[in-house]
Amino acid sequence: MDFAIKVGTSDKQRGACVVAGIFESRKMSETAKILDKTTQGYIKNILASGDMEGKANTSLLLHNVPNTQFKRILLIGLGKEEEFKEKTFLSVIGSILNTLQKTAVTDVTLSLPDFPLKQKNSDWKVTQTAIAVSTSLYRFDQLKSKPDNDRSQLRKVVLCINDRAELPGCENALQQGLAIAKGMNLTKDLGNQAPNICTPTYLAKQAKDLAKTHKLKATVLEEKDMEKLGMGSLLAVARGSDQPAKLIVLEYQGLTKKDNPVVLVGKGVTFDTGGISLKPAAEMDEMKFDMSGAASVLGAMLATAELKLPINLIGIIPATENMPSGKATKPGDVVTSMSGQTIEILNTDAEGRLILCDALTYAERYNPKLVIDIATLTGACVIALGNFTTGLLSNDEQLAQELIAAGEQAVDKAWQLPLGDDYQELLKSNFADIANIGGRAAGTITAACFLSRFTKKYRWAHLDIAGTAWKSGKDKGSTGRPVPLLMQFLINQTK
Ligand code: BES
Ligand code: MN
Ligand code: ZN
Repeated sequence: MDFAIKVGTSDKQRGACVVAGIFESRKMSETAKILDKTTQGYIKNILASGDMEGKANTSLLLHNVPNTQFKRILLIGLGKEEEFKEKTFLSVIGSILNTLQKTAVTDVTLSLPDFPLKQKNSDWKVTQTAIAVSTSLYRFDQLKSKPDNDRSQLRKVVLCINDRAELPGCENALQQGLAIAKGMNLTKDLGNQAPNICTPTYLAKQAKDLAKTHKLKATVLEEKDMEKLGMGSLLAVARGSDQPAKLIVLEYQGLTKKDNPVVLVGKGVTFDTGGISLKPAAEMDEMKFDMSGAASVLGAMLATAELKLPINLIGIIPATENMPSGKATKPGDVVTSMSGQTIEILNTDAEGRLILCDALTYAERYNPKLVIDIATLTGACVIALGNFTTGLLSNDEQLAQELIAAGEQAVDKAWQLPLGDDYQELLKSNFADIANIGGRAAGTITAACFLSRFTKKYRWAHLDIAGTAWKSGKDKGSTGRPVPLLMQFLINQTK
């Protein structure tokens, strides 16, 4: 896909299609007014016909309008002008792409000032448009014998701005949007991949390939290495599986060696059956997405390397299956984590925290500036926040606020839940230092409390993406979240 940013009004361009926004009660945007003038009232006539009222996300494609340099004009409803918000912008861009998808249109020109957002400048619109275009074009059909035949013909998007002074910022925003989109596509591909293909070994191979193409350093620890390090908790989860576990480490250096890195830790359970605490059969296929945290770390590493961000970034991915078998860990088993703390495994389905805790201890060796773990950790998070908002828990209030702000900027929201001693007590075990579950109440919080026992040496935040990493139902598939949040956070770190 080609993108271009042009200074000036869109009627000065030429091509297959130009977009003209119409607000509710048939009010014309600037582009619509200009096109109406050059076409001697053509658009006014259409509006008078009643075929386009300007309701948000309605559209009307006009062909062969005289006196324009475009083959088509796409009228797009923008809703009430005073109610036009970020969400409207995104849904309007989505509608434009949806409409064009069903046509032979190969290029489209739109004028960003037509979309009135008081809180957001053109940079934001450019980044979001690049991501939206990529999202709308994304398909995962590599496992089908024939590719899907609904692929769009769109090859080029031209974005017009009014002010030349905005051009450098917009060009930069475009590069950021493209890199984030690329990262999200990698995250989606890994999440959507079938779990018989996407094993821990496959994830390790993907990380090594990424390292080759993007000048990263990849290290893969095998089970025997983990044994030497004393990662008894991670290995306890891996025991039931015939697939060997891997601890994948990716390093990106954008500053001098002595600058402390940001460390991202991603849960990489490539299939979660629950283990001996077996899950019910319904929708169990969706537990292939239980490596979405790992996939988002790889996506963020890719985007960071593409942008050559001036930060040091480390990605750590504990990767394993969670399977039942004669060798599998049983409820009641006590294991020793790399930190030395002993854990009573009361439920083998609370496996994410068991692999993350050893990865979080391993992170200490990098003297991190801060650590963020990303995990499809608890069903309770889906109950609390639904599929819209990522759960956020942190031992550092400033870090939490920075992540919330990044999520808002990136339209990839997170909402903070509390940590605290009251909740910590729920993890008491009669037989070990800590139990791996805290009962039904406050499941997302007790899971994070468990992790907090292993993150005392650095600033840390936990993102529970159980509700946001993938969609169920007819649109089943990975969302690529929270790559936008993570990238906005990392970009903000460089400012
Ligand atoms: N991967 C699941 C969490 C999950 C469940 C994410 C459903 C998305 C949808 C995790 O490993 C898990 O099984 N968690 C248990 C924890 C419980 C046993 C304390 C859960 O949430 O039920
Ligand atoms: Mn589980
Ligand atoms: Zn899981």
